Amino acid sequence: MSQYQIAVIVGSLRQDSFNNKLALAMAKLAPPDFVFRKLEIGDLPLYNQDDEANQAEQVKRLKSEIKSAQGLLFITPEYNRSIPGVLKNAIDHASRPYGQHAWIGKPAGVLGVSVGALGTSMAQQHLRNILAYLDVPTMGQPEAFVQVKEGLFAEDGSIGAGSRQFMQSWMDRYVLWVRKHAG
Ligand SMILES: Cc1cc2nc3c(=O)[nH]c(=O)nc-3n(C[C@H](O)[C@H](O)[C@H](O)COP(=O)(O)O)c2cc1C
Repeated sequence: MSQYQIAVIVGSLRQDSFNNKLALAMAKLAPPDFVFRKLEIGDLPLYNQDDEANQAEQVKRLKSEIKSAQGLLFITPEYNRSIPGVLKNAIDHASRPYGQHAWIGKPAGVLGVSVGALGTSMAQQHLRNILAYLDVPTMGQPEAFVQVKEGLFAEDGSIGAGSRQFMQSWMDRYVLWVRKHAG
Protein backbone atom coordinates (compact mmCIF):
# COMPACT_ATOMS: atom_id res chain seq x y z
CA MET A 1 0.00 0.00 0.00
CA SER A 2 1.48 3.39 -0.96
CA GLN A 3 -0.27 5.43 1.74
CA TYR A 4 -2.10 4.65 4.95
CA GLN A 5 -4.95 7.03 5.69
CA ILE A 6 -5.53 7.30 9.43
CA ALA A 7 -8.84 8.62 10.72
CA VAL A 8 -8.21 10.50 13.97
CA ILE A 9 -11.10 10.75 16.39
CA VAL A 10 -10.55 13.29 19.16
CA GLY A 11 -12.99 13.06 22.07
CA SER A 12 -12.83 16.75 22.97
CA LEU A 13 -14.45 19.68 21.15
CA ARG A 14 -12.60 22.24 23.27
CA GLN A 15 -10.70 24.81 21.23
CA ASP A 16 -7.47 24.48 23.23
CA SER A 17 -7.89 20.76 23.83
CA PHE A 18 -4.80 18.96 25.09
CA ASN A 19 -6.03 15.84 23.32
CA ASN A 20 -6.20 17.71 20.05
CA LYS A 21 -2.65 18.93 20.64
CA LEU A 22 -1.58 15.36 21.34
CA ALA A 23 -3.22 14.24 18.07
CA LEU A 24 -1.23 16.83 16.11
CA ALA A 25 2.01 16.00 17.94
CA MET A 26 1.62 12.24 17.42
CA ALA A 27 1.16 12.69 13.67
CA LYS A 28 4.63 14.24 13.53
CA LEU A 29 6.14 10.99 14.86
CA ALA A 30 4.75 8.85 12.03
CA PRO A 31 6.49 7.89 8.79
CA PRO A 32 5.66 9.82 5.59
CA ASP A 33 3.36 7.13 4.20
CA PHE A 34 0.99 7.64 7.16
CA VAL A 35 -1.48 10.46 6.57
CA PHE A 36 -3.55 11.61 9.56
CA ARG A 37 -6.95 13.21 9.10
CA LYS A 38 -9.14 14.33 11.98
CA LEU A 39 -12.80 13.42 11.69
CA GLU A 40 -15.38 16.10 12.52
CA ILE A 41 -17.68 14.79 15.23
CA GLY A 42 -18.88 18.06 16.74
CA ASP A 43 -21.57 18.64 14.12
CA LEU A 44 -23.24 15.24 14.43
CA PRO A 45 -26.85 15.24 15.66
CA LEU A 46 -27.61 13.42 18.88
CA TYR A 47 -28.08 9.77 18.02
CA ASN A 48 -31.74 8.75 17.70
CA GLN A 49 -32.66 5.30 16.44
CA ASP A 50 -35.71 6.76 14.70
CA ASP A 51 -33.36 8.46 12.23
CA GLU A 52 -31.47 5.32 11.25
CA ALA A 53 -33.35 4.67 8.03
CA ASN A 54 -32.50 8.20 6.93
CA GLN A 55 -29.10 9.06 8.38
CA ALA A 56 -28.07 12.73 8.39
CA GLU A 57 -25.52 13.93 5.84
CA GLN A 58 -22.96 14.44 8.65
CA VAL A 59 -23.39 10.80 9.66
CA LYS A 60 -23.02 9.58 6.07
CA ARG A 61 -19.85 11.70 5.78
CA LEU A 62 -18.45 10.25 9.01
CA LYS A 63 -19.13 6.68 7.89
CA SER A 64 -17.63 7.22 4.49
CA GLU A 65 -14.45 8.78 5.97
CA ILE A 66 -14.05 5.84 8.34
CA LYS A 67 -14.59 3.31 5.56
CA SER A 68 -11.96 4.90 3.35
CA ALA A 69 -9.34 4.90 6.15
CA GLN A 70 -6.85 2.07 6.75
CA GLY A 71 -6.52 2.80 10.47
CA LEU A 72 -8.14 4.59 13.42
CA LEU A 73 -6.52 6.67 16.13
CA PHE A 74 -8.71 7.54 19.12
CA ILE A 75 -7.36 10.29 21.37
CA THR A 76 -9.72 11.15 24.16
CA PRO A 77 -10.06 12.89 27.49
CA GLU A 78 -11.68 11.17 30.43
CA TYR A 79 -15.01 12.63 31.56
CA ASN A 80 -16.29 11.37 34.89
CA ARG A 81 -14.24 8.19 34.60
CA SER A 82 -15.50 7.33 31.11
CA ILE A 83 -15.39 8.62 27.55
CA PRO A 84 -17.04 11.94 26.66
CA GLY A 85 -20.60 11.77 25.35
CA VAL A 86 -19.59 13.40 22.07
CA LEU A 87 -17.26 10.46 21.34
CA LYS A 88 -19.85 7.83 22.26
CA ASN A 89 -22.34 9.65 20.06
CA ALA A 90 -19.98 9.40 17.08
CA ILE A 91 -19.23 5.75 17.76
CA ASP A 92 -22.93 4.90 17.99
CA HIS A 93 -23.80 6.77 14.79
CA ALA A 94 -21.16 4.99 12.73
CA SER A 95 -22.08 1.61 14.23
CA ARG A 96 -25.56 1.65 12.76
CA PRO A 97 -27.82 0.46 11.13
CA TYR A 98 -27.24 -3.03 12.44
CA GLY A 99 -25.03 -4.96 10.02
CA GLN A 100 -23.81 -1.82 8.26
CA HIS A 101 -21.32 -0.41 10.71
CA ALA A 102 -18.27 1.45 9.54
CA TRP A 103 -15.71 0.66 12.26
CA ILE A 104 -15.46 -3.09 11.73
CA GLY A 105 -11.98 -4.48 11.13
CA LYS A 106 -10.14 -1.14 11.16
CA PRO A 107 -6.94 -1.39 13.22
CA ALA A 108 -6.99 1.12 16.07
CA GLY A 109 -4.83 2.76 18.67
CA VAL A 110 -6.10 4.41 21.84
CA LEU A 111 -4.47 7.38 23.56
CA GLY A 112 -5.52 10.10 25.92
CA VAL A 113 -4.22 12.97 27.99
CA SER A 114 -5.71 14.29 31.21
CA VAL A 115 -4.95 16.88 33.83
CA GLY A 116 -5.43 14.08 36.36
CA ALA A 117 -2.74 11.62 37.47
CA LEU A 118 -4.57 8.59 36.08
CA GLY A 119 -4.13 9.97 32.58
CA THR A 120 -7.44 8.78 31.05
CA SER A 121 -6.88 5.15 32.05
CA MET A 122 -10.54 4.54 32.92
CA ALA A 123 -11.80 6.23 29.77
CA GLN A 124 -9.39 4.19 27.65
CA GLN A 125 -10.54 0.97 29.28
CA HIS A 126 -14.21 1.82 28.61
CA LEU A 127 -13.33 2.67 25.03
CA ARG A 128 -11.51 -0.64 24.57
CA ASN A 129 -14.65 -2.43 25.73
CA ILE A 130 -16.75 -0.70 23.09
CA LEU A 131 -14.18 -1.29 20.34
CA ALA A 132 -13.96 -4.99 21.21
CA TYR A 133 -17.70 -5.31 20.72
CA LEU A 134 -17.44 -3.50 17.37
CA ASP A 135 -14.77 -5.94 16.13
CA VAL A 136 -12.09 -3.26 15.97
CA PRO A 137 -8.62 -4.81 16.42
CA THR A 138 -7.14 -2.47 19.04
CA MET A 139 -3.44 -2.37 19.88
CA GLY A 140 -2.95 -3.62 23.44
CA GLN A 141 0.59 -2.46 24.20
CA PRO A 142 2.12 -0.13 24.91
CA GLU A 143 -0.56 1.69 26.85
CA ALA A 144 -0.08 5.44 27.19
CA PHE A 145 -1.80 7.27 30.04
CA VAL A 146 -0.56 10.80 29.60
CA GLN A 147 -0.81 13.56 32.19
CA VAL A 148 -0.56 17.23 31.28
CA LYS A 149 2.71 18.54 32.67
CA GLU A 150 5.02 21.43 31.92
CA GLY A 151 7.10 20.44 28.88
CA LEU A 152 4.73 17.76 27.56
CA PHE A 153 4.64 19.75 24.32
CA ALA A 154 7.61 21.60 22.83
CA GLU A 155 7.31 25.16 21.49
CA ASP A 156 6.61 23.90 17.97
CA GLY A 157 3.78 21.62 19.15
CA SER A 158 5.76 18.40 18.95
CA ILE A 159 6.11 16.04 21.91
CA GLY A 160 8.54 17.49 24.46
CA ALA A 161 11.96 15.95 24.98
CA GLY A 162 11.03 14.18 28.25
CA SER A 163 8.25 12.10 26.66
CA ARG A 164 9.60 11.87 23.12
CA GLN A 165 11.25 8.45 23.31
CA PHE A 166 8.22 6.75 24.86
CA MET A 167 5.70 8.37 22.51
CA GLN A 168 7.92 7.52 19.52
CA SER A 169 7.96 3.88 20.62
CA TRP A 170 4.17 4.01 20.92
CA MET A 171 3.91 5.35 17.37
CA ASP A 172 6.38 2.79 16.00
CA ARG A 173 4.26 -0.03 17.42
CA TYR A 174 1.07 1.58 16.13
CA VAL A 175 2.54 1.83 12.62
CA LEU A 176 3.39 -1.88 12.70
CA TRP A 177 -0.11 -2.65 14.01
CA VAL A 178 -1.78 -0.82 11.15
CA ARG A 179 0.52 -2.27 8.49
CA LYS A 180 -0.22 -5.76 9.82
CA HIS A 181 -4.00 -5.41 9.98
CA ALA A 182 -4.89 -3.01 7.18
CA GLY A 183 -6.80 -4.88 4.49
C1 LIG B 1 -17.14 16.99 32.36
C2 LIG B 1 -15.70 16.73 32.77
C3 LIG B 1 -15.38 15.59 33.47
C4 LIG B 1 -14.05 15.30 33.78
N1 LIG B 1 -13.74 14.12 34.38
C5 LIG B 1 -12.44 13.76 34.50
C6 LIG B 1 -12.10 12.43 34.92
O1 LIG B 1 -12.94 11.61 35.20
N2 LIG B 1 -10.78 12.11 35.00
C7 LIG B 1 -9.80 13.02 34.68
O2 LIG B 1 -8.63 12.68 34.76
N3 LIG B 1 -10.09 14.28 34.28
C8 LIG B 1 -11.39 14.66 34.16
N4 LIG B 1 -11.71 15.90 33.71
C9 LIG B 1 -10.62 16.87 33.44
C10 LIG B 1 -10.05 16.68 32.05
O3 LIG B 1 -8.94 15.81 32.15
C11 LIG B 1 -9.56 18.03 31.51
O4 LIG B 1 -10.62 18.95 31.44
C12 LIG B 1 -8.90 17.88 30.15
O5 LIG B 1 -8.21 19.07 29.84
C13 LIG B 1 -9.94 17.59 29.06
O6 LIG B 1 -9.30 17.28 27.86
P1 LIG B 1 -9.09 18.37 26.69
O7 LIG B 1 -8.04 19.33 27.18
O8 LIG B 1 -8.65 17.57 25.52
O9 LIG B 1 -10.40 19.08 26.44
C14 LIG B 1 -13.03 16.23 33.42
C15 LIG B 1 -13.38 17.40 32.74
C16 LIG B 1 -14.69 17.65 32.42
C17 LIG B 1 -15.02 18.90 31.63
